[in-house]
Order: sequence, then structure tokens, then C-alpha cells
Amino acid sequence: MPHTLQGLTQRPEWRALTALRDQLAQTNLRDLFDRDPRRAQRYLASAAGLTLDFSRNRLTDEVLQALDALAGACGLPERRAALLRGDIVNPTENRPALHTALRQPAGSEVRVNGQNVVPEIQATLERMETLVKAVHQGERTGYSDKPFTDVVSIGIGGSFLGPKLVVEALAPYAREGMNCHFVANIDGTDIQETLKKLNPETTLFLVQSKSFRTQETLSNSLVAREWFLTHGGDVAAIARHFLAVTTNIKDAKHFGIDEHNIFPMWDWVGGRYSLWSAIGLPIALTLGMEHFHALLEGAHDMDRHFAEAPTAQNLPVLMALLSVWYNNFWGAETHAVLPYDEYLQFLPDHLQQLDMESNGKRVTQQGQPVDYATGPILWGGVGANGQHAYHQLIHQGTRLVPADFIIPLQSHNPVNEHHANLFANCLSQARAMMAGKTRAEAKQELLDSGMEEAAAETLAPHKVIPGNQPSNILLMDKVTPKTLGALIALYEHRTFVQSVIWDIDCFDQWGVELGKQIGNEILPRLTDGAQASADSDSATDNLINLFRAANRP
Ligand code: F6P
Repeated sequence: MPHTLQGLTQRPEWRALTALRDQLAQTNLRDLFDRDPRRAQRYLASAAGLTLDFSRNRLTDEVLQALDALAGACGLPERRAALLRGDIVNPTENRPALHTALRQPAGSEVRVNGQNVVPEIQATLERMETLVKAVHQGERTGYSDKPFTDVVSIGIGGSFLGPKLVVEALAPYAREGMNCHFVANIDGTDIQETLKKLNPETTLFLVQSKSFRTQETLSNSLVAREWFLTHGGDVAAIARHFLAVTTNIKDAKHFGIDEHNIFPMWDWVGGRYSLWSAIGLPIALTLGMEHFHALLEGAHDMDRHFAEAPTAQNLPVLMALLSVWYNNFWGAETHAVLPYDEYLQFLPDHLQQLDMESNGKRVTQQGQPVDYATGPILWGGVGANGQHAYHQLIHQGTRLVPADFIIPLQSHNPVNEHHANLFANCLSQARAMMAGKTRAEAKQELLDSGMEEAAAETLAPHKVIPGNQPSNILLMDKVTPKTLGALIALYEHRTFVQSVIWDIDCFDQWGVELGKQIGNEILPRLTDGAQASADSDSATDNLINLFRAANRP
């Protein structure tokens, strides 16, 4: 049951967790490991090709039970069933959120307004397959009959980050001779630098926009179209070179995209959950449809696990509850995602949108202001690089920084001892964060190295690492289409479970609208000398004047 009548922080389950936090405050992670030799085995769970080691957390069985009780009191089982069934779980937009339907196998049933949407999803996958095969087999070619060699995906936010992550992460599976480029930013550099590398005869453009209203995407698509027309293409050839994925067929046609080249999107798929739909075309075109299907399968395996596994074994539920634990009871303000795999370098970017656009909310589903923290700041980057950059703050700064380490057991590029080295780095960071180094240990090390007593005493405090920084380690055999699908779906469900506890709508994003609105008022002042509106301010006006002076015709 959602906590409308009784505020979340007034719940007995919340109070129980506060008391457990106070009890645990004097215990550190080293103590927890010392007390229970089987801790590592007990706090381990696997599903869909992923293994979660959650032993390095400020967690006891009592805490886990109390977190589970909180989830129950917040209606997690009912809300999860509602999500998967296709109920309206996005009340402010009056929509279901059915990204899970996109990875349902053919023949299953998921109803929206009484209608089974799975056949429509399957039909779209078949259309994608036809296109991908035709492009790969050279049956669909550019205007000079040469096969396509380059795909340019133009889109932003959810119409960019997911496909970009997957294309980069699955580079070992890419088809030879097929290059994929992404253009997102309104900064002209993005499209211009991309176009410089391309031959219009062999380039396929995908305009990716659920709404077909997004300024960045439409502006970049116009530049691409103009470039195409001035570099050898003509209006008749646009139908061969430009495709769109959108819910807004009318505007896509108006833009000049042939109806047969428009792939559908649905209102019931959120942008940041859309890589599984035709928005995944850059993935399918770069890797082939068999790998796209494997990605969907991996995600579906995770969906089933999420739906069925008990809390103590349920990867997304565990990760969400641990995040709530640190966010709301220990004051953590951020959450770090640290993939130890070069191919996963764009995972933090994708998860940043997924998590922060979803859970950056301040009122409950009923519109009441919350009196607790909601989504933390998600950040991160690839290891081992981060160790030589921001890990210092994690080890010796003053903040609590829960982190997820993500690492495959095997590398796609086994070279010398690199992978063993990478693995050692990952484990050593998790251990250093957990165990730290006491003052006595630091001093003893200095003495052992031959330092004088007084000098060792002076230097020791600078070498103390408090430890007790919690982390998860997520393992997989290898980064494959299936394990990647499962990994992304795991974070989607983690995001949802957090939102259930916080009773917020994780499928809307009204906060991004104000900036767009103000931007639309500022633009004509920069380009056409339009007058300031009544609600402008002197700081904005000053900089508009500077811009005008610097860009006089
Ligand atoms: O501005 C935010 C947003 O609406 C995202 O939620 C979305 O993924 C992105 O813009 C792009 O939207 P569209 O796919 O409609 O172009």
C-alpha cells in the first residue's frame, strides 16, 4: 500500500531501520567480516548471468529483513505486479511503462487498454529484421547503389544514451564494415565533425525521437539533410537514406521521411527505457539482429528474476534497498558506478539519465512534498582510470560514497596479464574501501620501512584510510549481448524499486521542461534581437548582450 495516509518516515519499518542504523554506527565492515566467516557466501546472489556480491555493505540479516519489511509496507509486490501488467504506473502522464513488454517472447500477452501489444512489438522487430538484413546483404543500398557503410543516429537523451552504450559495449560483436556514429548535441561541432568523416552515397541516417519535437534532434537532422542534398544526394534519394523512429508519424512525414521508413514507438515506453524498441536500430544495424534478440533475451531473464525471486536473492531489489539504506539512513548523497571494463565506459552516462531523470523528484505520487531524500547523484567512470583521479576522495575524503564495481571474469582482449591486473585493481579498491588502514597500521608500515619514530608519528595521520565505504561487486563471465541486456534491465528495476519506496513517479520528467521553455524565449533575443520578456533578469540580459556583441553580422 502506498504511504499516503501515513508518511514514509513515520512508518514503524522506517523507525526500525533508524534504530538499526544507530546500533550499527559503531561497527565497521571489518568487524562484520570478522564476526561471520561465511559472510561472503551468504551475501551473494546470481541471476541471468550476473552475480552480485553484496557482502561489503553495512548490512546484517536484521537490516535486510527490516529493508524487506519497508519494501512490503510500501507495496513493492503490488507495484511491481502493476508495472509488469501494464497498469498506469506513470500517473502524471496517465500511462503504463511497458519496457518489459518489449522483451517478452513472441506469443506472450501484455494488454494496454484491453489490447495485447506483443503482436505489434513482434511486427516491429520483424520490420527491423527485414531492414537490417537488406542493409547487410546489400539489397538496400544508397542512391548510387553502393552498400551502406555508415549509420548516423541523430537523437538525444533516451533516444541516444542507451543505443550508444550498447553499440560501444558490444563492439566485439560489430559487423565488419558497418560504422555507427551518434549525434546528440546542439553544439554544431557534434554534427559537423561527424559529417566530415562520411560519404553521402553510403550513409544511412536515423532520426530518433519519440516526440519528433526535440530541438537538438530536429536541428541536427535538418543539417544532415542539407548536407546530403548539397553533397550529391537529391530529394528523391532522401527516402533511401533517411529513416525515423517516432510516435509522431505526422511530423516525421512533414520532415520528408517516407512513411515506409518510419518505425513506431509507443507512449507506453519511456525515452530512457526505449533502447529495446526500434530506438535500438543503431544497435541492430551495427551488430546484427541475432545480437539484438540476445540483448532482449538477457533483459527478459532479468525481468523474470525481478518478478519472482525473494528479496534476499533478488538483485535489483537488493541493490535498490541498499541504495535507500545509504541514501536515507546514512546520508549518502551520491552513488558511484565503476565499470572495470573499457567496453562499458558509457554505462555511467546511460545510468545517470535512467536514475536521475527517473528519481530526481520532490513530491509523492499524490503531489505531497517529500520529507526525505530521493534519488542520489549518480556518477562514475571506468576503472582502473578512476583510481588515478577521483578514488582519492572515496578513500580519504569526508563523504560516504557507496559504489558498484562491475567486472567480467573474462576479457574480450586477453593480452599478457592485463585482465588479471584489472581484476586485481577492482578487488583491491573494494577491499581498500571496505577495510581501510588504521593509524596504528599506517605508523607500523612507516616504521617497518625504516622511518624514525617521530617522523612516522607525524606522517601516519595522512596515511589513515577510514574504510567502511560500502560497495557491491557485479560479476559476469563476459560482456555479451545477453549479460549486457540483463545488466541494463537490472538497473532499470533498481530505479523503479527505489521510486516505490519513495512513492514518486519515476516515469515522468517535468523538471526538464522549464529550461526548454526559457531557452525558447532566449533564442530569438540572440538571433533576431527580440526584446526581453517581463520575467527576464539582469544576469541573463548581460550575457545576451555579450553574445550579441561577439556575434554581430
Ligand atoms: O528532455 C528530456 C527528454 O524528454 C528525455 O526524457 C528524452 O529521452 C529526450 O528528451 C529525447 O526526447 P525525444 O526522444 O522525444 O526526442
